[in-house]
Amino acid sequence: MTVKLAPSILSADFAHLADAVHQAGAAGADWIHVDVMDGHFVPNITIGVPVVKSLRMATTLPLDVHLMIERPERFIEAFASAGADVITVHQEATVHLHRTVQHIRSLDRRAGVAINPATPVSMLEDIVPYLDLVLVMSVNPGFGGQAFIPTAPSRIEAVRTMLDRLGRNDVEVEVDGGVSPDTAPSVVRAGASVLVAGAAVFNPRASVAENVAALRSSMVGMGVG
Ligand code: DX5
Ligand code: ZN
Repeated sequence: MTVKLAPSILSADFAHLADAVHQAGAAGADWIHVDVMDGHFVPNITIGVPVVKSLRMATTLPLDVHLMIERPERFIEAFASAGADVITVHQEATVHLHRTVQHIRSLDRRAGVAINPATPVSMLEDIVPYLDLVLVMSVNPGFGGQAFIPTAPSRIEAVRTMLDRLGRNDVEVEVDGGVSPDTAPSVVRAGASVLVAGAAVFNPRASVAENVAALRSSMVGMGVG
């Protein structure tokens, strides 16, 4: 298994996003994670469709768009047209999850469903056959730089077990929140295949290249290179 790294631009300098995605790409990032927040589903407001459109012109890396918004079905078309490659909605944010996921797939985009830390993994059971990705939140969504919630690895393991049972080992399991060189090994061991990292990649302590290298080296020897 190879593990993908998806730096979250939430911790980058919003006045220099093109530089941030270039640095992430040069450091070997696999995807760019874009956190969209509406001030309703989560207590923060970030960026929207026009920024995704501009990022699309700034990088060829897949744009992994994480919609932390209420009733995301209203914006699927817009984010797909703006250039999102992966569109992830929250299980808690839409009544018609199946319809929303089908809509994403009908636009030839990869469909993901995210679950908050207190949402039972079993809520995914009936939607998994239609998914390309499951996103397990390892913090309460809304802000970068929060502490990793230690129940995340066992939840990732439970998602992997469910996917195996349903014959869907092709589905990506992404983890988001508090991922660092300290916590990455535990989520990879549990079966995560995409690691989102914001504060661990974009911070004043070291360069993006050094930070990405530190994340990669924390996983050396785990057979995920
Ligand atoms: C949290 C966002 C995350 C966030 C992660 O609501 O969904 O993508 O940027 O940031 P870190 O890695 O700093 O916890
Ligand atoms: Zn995110």
